Amino acid sequence: MSEEKDPLLLDHEIDGIQELDNNLPRWWVWLFILSTVFAFIYMMYYHVLRVGDLQAVEYAKEAKVGEAIKSAALAKFEATLATLEPSKDVEVLGTGKTVFMRMCAPCHRADAGGLVGPNLCDDYWIHGSAFADNLKVIVNGVPQKGMLTWKGILKPNEIQAVASYIYTLRGTHPVNPKPPENQQTAPAGPSVYE
Ligand code: HEC
Repeated sequence: MSEEKDPLLLDHEIDGIQELDNNLPRWWVWLFILSTVFAFIYMMYYHVLRVGDLQAVEYAKEAKVGEAIKSAALAKFEATLATLEPSKDVEVLGTGKTVFMRMCAPCHRADAGGLVGPNLCDDYWIHGSAFADNLKVIVNGVPQKGMLTWKGILKPNEIQAVASYIYTLRGTHPVNPKPPENQQTAPAGPSVYE
């Protein structure tokens, strides 16, 4: 240990503890300056001049774009409703069954024999027996009668799938079904599954 005083050593001493006045490392100083500059630009850009969108606005903009895509897809689907055929694809019907069990069974019963909503297996239909009639009821619902409007909830392919699934239940005879009320007799017609 040399007796010479270190030029970096400061004058004070407390309980034998002394302080060296080291220069800060250059990389640290640059990091500090750049962070400060960045913070200043960020502050001006987002909070003072308000040039950039904050998260909430960005979210609202993206949600709007998403909504537009959704309603375009739905409008396209609604325009083709009358020409759609029930699907026989096993995978589609599987999706349809899943949707039915989750969304529809609480009102129509798991076997579609009817509960709050009417029996979907018999020859009595309130809104018509054609596949397209079913699709329309599912898409638009009958809110005043308690049938929900599904177009905002289910995707077009799910609506097509669940309608195809209930089509396969036509002509089945669930035990203790809900009796027809004001429904018109409208034969289901030859099932495409026979
Ligand atoms: C909250 C109860 C409820 C739920 C959930 C519900 N429905 Fe309904 N549904 C009804 C009622 C009530 C009616 C009868 C409407 C009327 O009287 O006009 C109905 C009618 C229908 C009809 C027309 C029947 C006819 O005779 O013309 C179809 C098809 C149908 N629902 C399918 C579905 C499908 C598919 C789902 C699931 C995606 C579903 N429903 C979910 C209550 C419900």
